[in-house]
Amino acid sequence: MDGRNFYITTPIYYVNDIPHIGHAYTTIACDVMSRYKRMKGYDVHFLTGTDEHGQKIQTAAEAKGMTPQELVDKIHVNFKELWKVLDIGNDDFIRTTEPRHVRVVQAMFKKLMDQGDIYKGTYEGQYCVPCETYVPESSAGEGNTCPDCGRPLTLMQEESYFFRASKYVPQLIAHYEKHLNGVMPRVRYNEIMSFLRGEVRDQSVSRTTLKWGIPIPGDEKHVIYVWFDALINYATASGYLDDPAMFRKYWPSVRHVVGKDIIRFHCVVWPLMLLALGLEPPVSVVAHGWWTVDGEKMSKSKGNVVDPFKMVELYGADAFRYFLLREVPFGHDGDFSEAALVGRINSDLANDLGNLLNRTLQMIVSYRDGVVPAAGLDDPLDRELRALAETTLGRVDEAMERFAFDDALKAIWALIGRANKYIDETMPWKLAKEGPSERLDSVLSSLYEALRLSALLVAPYMPGTSRRIWDQLGLEGTPLERVYDDFAWGEGSGAVVRKAEVLFPRIDLEAWKKVRAGELPKAGKAEAASPGEMEHEPEIGIEAFRAVEMRVAQIVKVEEIPKSRKLYKLEVDLGYEKRTVCSGIKAFFKPEELEGRRVVLVTNLKPAKLCGIESNGMILAASVKVDGNSEALTLVVPAGEIPLGSRVS
Ligand code: ME8
Ligand code: MG
Repeated sequence: MDGRNFYITTPIYYVNDIPHIGHAYTTIACDVMSRYKRMKGYDVHFLTGTDEHGQKIQTAAEAKGMTPQELVDKIHVNFKELWKVLDIGNDDFIRTTEPRHVRVVQAMFKKLMDQGDIYKGTYEGQYCVPCETYVPESSAGEGNTCPDCGRPLTLMQEESYFFRASKYVPQLIAHYEKHLNGVMPRVRYNEIMSFLRGEVRDQSVSRTTLKWGIPIPGDEKHVIYVWFDALINYATASGYLDDPAMFRKYWPSVRHVVGKDIIRFHCVVWPLMLLALGLEPPVSVVAHGWWTVDGEKMSKSKGNVVDPFKMVELYGADAFRYFLLREVPFGHDGDFSEAALVGRINSDLANDLGNLLNRTLQMIVSYRDGVVPAAGLDDPLDRELRALAETTLGRVDEAMERFAFDDALKAIWALIGRANKYIDETMPWKLAKEGPSERLDSVLSSLYEALRLSALLVAPYMPGTSRRIWDQLGLEGTPLERVYDDFAWGEGSGAVVRKAEVLFPRIDLEAWKKVRAGELPKAGKAEAASPGEMEHEPEIGIEAFRAVEMRVAQIVKVEEIPKSRKLYKLEVDLGYEKRTVCSGIKAFFKPEELEGRRVVLVTNLKPAKLCGIESNGMILAASVKVDGNSEALTLVVPAGEIPLGSRVS
């Protein structure tokens, strides 16, 4: 067994349906992990594929007036297409209808039968047809329904082959007692252990009630139950029959990543089958949680199924990949909304990462003609940034060991945030005017190194973006070819940066929705302010800040001021009083876009007369450059329902 091999798998997805966000999620997670492990020097094998037999497929084919083979030949392509679009770098794609797989399933079935671990019996039980599982009485839902899908159960009796699962349970318990990461995270481990310590019944592994499955050699009345068939894909694709050397290399190092819906199959049935076959259970089965959409369960009948193709088209593969892994701790359930996705694009990607790159490159161009200087005169701030960068490598590594993608990203963003703050602290624009030039060298060099490392660290998550950063940094090749552990601070000097387009233009969700509905001409790309143009105010104490009184207010009325091209006369409600405010936002909003909105108002500004009207306060807004010259505005608004008059501090 070689500790440098890493075999990782997604579930194989049913092809009765088009791929959705759930499928994308598992596959993206595996892709990120496999890219990361490759950078760490592992020999990685990354498998995904499609589950093409069984009742669901047969039913779906009948509904479409196709043969099951026609259906699977057609539908599985959607998955392959999606993986291309999402930048998934799988090494193999297995389809359970392929001859290489059918051979392995039949061989394993026969081996288990020959050794007495598969026997013929009669099965009777409450069966859920859509889910293709017998449901034990104890777990049936109210009114004899399926606990998973809620549909009514049917009493079924059939001749069936059984796998003697119960015989291997003590061995599996002993295995998990030694391998605490055999099931991850720990809540799932505990769930599986208590299940194993209860009554585990022998598993029915054949059906006479359907045709669309792998026939049992010598008893063609039966087809092999779809789950027995499906689980074996992991062995097929690592060469169990066709390439024993490959199988020896990858098998003991396998990690199955699955949704929490299918852990019994992966953490109980499959390892029991493996033990019966004399093979090692997987190193880990890693279970993630489920996505809901805007707070609701995703379902076709609700029409709220998130189409990953659409998300990529609208926001790009990298932003979508980033969002899914950053938003929710792996293992927990999460809620998807486009507003949350846009929020992360604007804050984490455009603002934090995009601005760091933009500001740094702009300064290297302005102050050093684009050539990255070597460090000169250093300072405790530089050493702190460097130390953080170096510990980030270890933090990310530790998080990835736990499949804690969100923690890894938080660690990376802590570095990015620190680097942005470092710019504000060192004020390179001041150094350029008055400081020693060796000091500015060190600052620019430190920022460049922080970015170089960030590009490397985000590479598994956002391969395209990291390549674009790498190019702009003037580096050769791609970050993904780099060896993670060889990273060394300070090797970037002498590179010539290539400032190019903004990485992630900011998105105004409301305006964006209109653009998509065809209501507005497509807005240009918004650009982050570049450092040369950024104005910074002198430092103030907390008292000075507290002297500004800001409160949540609602715009209740919007009136034009005929004489003014820029101003609106607004009536705003603070809850405890109403006020008139003149605001220079006319060019950016229609009255109906403002009426009813909650905003932040500076309430203790000295009243001012504008166009003959007394204005009592100021509404906060942020401005952004669009297409390099024109300006766009967005209101600063409270994120949640909050009473009018609440103090902002
Ligand atoms: O179960 N949130 O296939 P499947 C997160 N063929 N992940 C989700 C999700 C959601 N709302 N919905 C689905 C099968 N998934 C079998 C597997 S493996 C030998 C056979 C993901 O098409 C999650 O990974 O129903 C889940 O396990 C998988 O899709 C189920 O895909
Ligand atoms: Mg399913």
